[in-house]
Amino acid sequence: MNSAQHSVTVMGLGPMGRAMAAALLDRGYAVTVWNRTASRADGLVARGAALAPSPAEAVAANEVVILSLTDYAAVRAVLEPAAPALDGRALLNLTSATPEEARAGADWAAGHGAVQLTGGVNSSPTGIGQPESYTFYSGPREAFDRHRPVLEALTGRVDHQGEDPGLAALHYQIGMVMFWTSLLGYWQAVALARANGMTAADILPSVVETADSLSETFAFYAERIDAGVHLGDVDRLAMGLASADHVLRTNADAGVDTALPAAVVALFRRGVEAGRGADSCSALVELLAKPGK
Ligand SMILES: NC(=O)c1ccc[n+]([C@@H]2O[C@H](COP(=O)([O-])OP(=O)(O)OC[C@H]3O[C@@H](n4cnc5c(N)ncnc54)[C@H](OP(=O)(O)O)[C@@H]3O)[C@@H](O)[C@H]2O)c1
Repeated sequence: MNSAQHSVTVMGLGPMGRAMAAALLDRGYAVTVWNRTASRADGLVARGAALAPSPAEAVAANEVVILSLTDYAAVRAVLEPAAPALDGRALLNLTSATPEEARAGADWAAGHGAVQLTGGVNSSPTGIGQPESYTFYSGPREAFDRHRPVLEALTGRVDHQGEDPGLAALHYQIGMVMFWTSLLGYWQAVALARANGMTAADILPSVVETADSLSETFAFYAERIDAGVHLGDVDRLAMGLASADHVLRTNADAGVDTALPAAVVALFRRGVEAGRGADSCSALVELLAKPGK
C-alpha cells in the first residue's frame, strides 16, 4: 500500500470521477484509477494515471480511496469483492446517497477496518479542482483533517459537518431538493416559451432575474418560518393558489405537459383546504413537514 499523502486511488470514472482524477494529476498526485468500463480511463492513463486491473488491486494501491459511483448499490458491488483489501483505508465516498445509506456504508467499511468520510459535492464536473467549488463532509474529524489536502484538491472549499457520516449526505440532499426542483421549474419555463415560439436564449434574462430574486425571498421567509410566523400581510396562500392555477392553465392552453404545474396547484390547494388560505404561502412548510395533517 502506498500511504504517501501524494498518492490516491479513484474508483468510478463517470464525468465526476474523471474530473477528480484529472484535478489530482494536475496537482502532481500519483493516481491509480479503476472503472467498470476500463476504456473510460484512457485519457487519464495517457496523462500518467495507473489503471488497476481489479477493484481489489485499486484499493490495495493506496491508503486514500476516492469513490465516485452512481449510488451506494454500485459502491457495494465494487467494494464487496475488494473487502479483504480495505483494512487501513480511508474511503472518501463522494457518491450521492441518503443519510441512512451513508451511515450503513460507513458501518460496513468500519467492519472491514476502513474509515469512511462521506462527501456531498456541490459542483458540476467543470467545478472540480476550482478554488470556489464546495463539498460537505462528515465522518471522523481526524480523517477529515488528515486528508484535507486531497479534499481541497478536489474542491477548494471543504466543510466538516460533524462526526455522523449521514450529515454530509443530509446537507447535500437538502441542496439537491432545491437543485432538481429549480431546474425542473426552469425546464418547464423553457417548454412553455418554446410552445409560444421563443427560445431558451430569449427568456434567459427574465429567468435569471427571477432566480436572483429568490435569495432575498428565502431570507425574508427564513426568519418568519423559524419564529413560527406565517402572517398573510405580504402574500396569502389563497392568492398563491390562484397564481399557481394561472400557471397551470397557461401551460395547458399551450399544450405543454402539466404534471409539474398540476403538482404545485395540488399542494397550494391542500394548504387552502387545511384552512390556511389567509396565511402566508410559507404556511405550506407546516403542511410539508407533516404531510399526514
Ligand atoms: N455529474 C454531476 O454533475 C454531479 C454533481 C454532483 C454530484 N454528483 C454525484 O457524483 C457521483 C458520480 O457522478 P457521475 O456524474 O460521474 O456519475 P455517473 O455518470 O453515474 O458515473 C459514475 C460511475 O459509476 C459507475 N457504476 C455505476 N454502476 C456501477 C456498478 N454497478 N458497478 C460498477 N460501477 C458502476 C460507472 O461505471 P461505468 O463507466 O462502467 O458505467 C461510472 O464510472 C454520483 O453519485 C452523482 O450523484 C454528480
